[in-house]
Amino acid sequence: MTGKLAVIYFSPTHTSRTTALAVAEGLAELGMEAQDVDLTMAPAREGFALELGEGDVAVVGYPVYAGRVPRVLAEALAGLAGEGAVAVPVAVYGNRDFDDALVEMADILAEAGFAVPAAGAFVGEHSFTRLVGTDRPDAADVEAAVAFGAAVAAKLAAGDLSAAEPRGNRPYTDYQADLPFMPVTTDACTDCGVCAHVCPMGAIDPADVRRVDECCISCCACVKACPEAAKTFEGTPVDGVAHMLQENCVARREPETFL
Ligand SMILES: Cc1cc2nc3c(=O)[nH]c(=O)nc-3n(C[C@H](O)[C@H](O)[C@H](O)COP(=O)(O)O)c2cc1C
Ligand code: SF4
Ligand code: SF4
Repeated sequence: MTGKLAVIYFSPTHTSRTTALAVAEGLAELGMEAQDVDLTMAPAREGFALELGEGDVAVVGYPVYAGRVPRVLAEALAGLAGEGAVAVPVAVYGNRDFDDALVEMADILAEAGFAVPAAGAFVGEHSFTRLVGTDRPDAADVEAAVAFGAAVAAKLAAGDLSAAEPRGNRPYTDYQADLPFMPVTTDACTDCGVCAHVCPMGAIDPADVRRVDECCISCCACVKACPEAAKTFEGTPVDGVAHMLQENCVARREPETFL
C-alpha cells in the first residue's frame, strides 16, 4: 500500500503508546511510512483534525478506562475523518478486562468513515498500581503486538476489509470514570515540576503543584512520573480500587485479537 500509516494514541503512562507502535512495526510490511500522532496532552487534543482516505491506515492506541474508551480521547476523535481508510483499534487494559472498549472504538471509527477489519486488546501495567500487570507490556506482549500488526498487513494485502467482530457489548457498560479523584502531594515533594509537565489535562498548577484541578482524570501519569513518590492517590477511593485489583486481578491475562 502507498498511503499514510498514522499511529494515533492517547497514553498517559506510555503502555498504549508502546503497544500501538509495536502493532505499527508489524504493519510496516505494507511498506508505508509511519507517522506519530500523539493525542496524550491537552494542546494536541484541542482542535485536533486529521483526514485520511483510501489507501491510508490508522492504528489507534488507548487505555481502557472503566471498560470504555477514555472520554477525552473519544471527544478528540471527533476531529478524525476516515473517508474509506482502514483503522485498527488497539486497546490496552490493566489486566482486569477491556469490557466494551474495543466495540466502542470500532463504532467510533466506523462512524468516522473507516473500515475496521481488525482490533486487538493488550495488557499494560495498571495505572492505579504497579502490582497488577507489573512491567507490561513485556517482551512477549510486544512480540504479540508485532505479530498482530503483521497479520493485519496480510489481511489488507489480500484485499480483505471485512469488519472485525471484537468481544464486547452494545449498549456499552455505563461510564463510571468521571470520579473526579485528585492525587494528593506529600511532604516529600521537592517542587521539581515534573508532575505538572506530564499531566495530560493540565490539571496541576506549575506554580503550586499541590493544587490539582477537578478536570483530573485519575490517569496516574503524575504518580508514576514523580521521582520522589510524592504524588499519590493513597487515602482516596482510587487507592481502594487498587487494593481490590491487587486481590482479584493478578493472574496473567493474554492479548486477544480479532481479525
Ligand atoms: C480511570 C482509569 C480506569 C481504568 N479502568 C480499567 C478497566 O476498566 N480495566 C482494566 O483492566 N484496566 C483499567 N485501567 C488501567 C489502564 O487501562 C491500563 O493501566 C493501561 O495500560 C494504561 O494505559 P497508558 O499507559 O497508555 O496510560 C484504568 C485506568 C484508569 C486511569
Ligand atoms: S513530580 Fe513529585 S516531587 Fe516533583 S513537583 Fe510533582 S509531586 Fe513534587
Ligand atoms: S493530576 Fe490527574 S490528570 Fe493530571 S496526571 Fe495526575 S492523575 Fe493524571
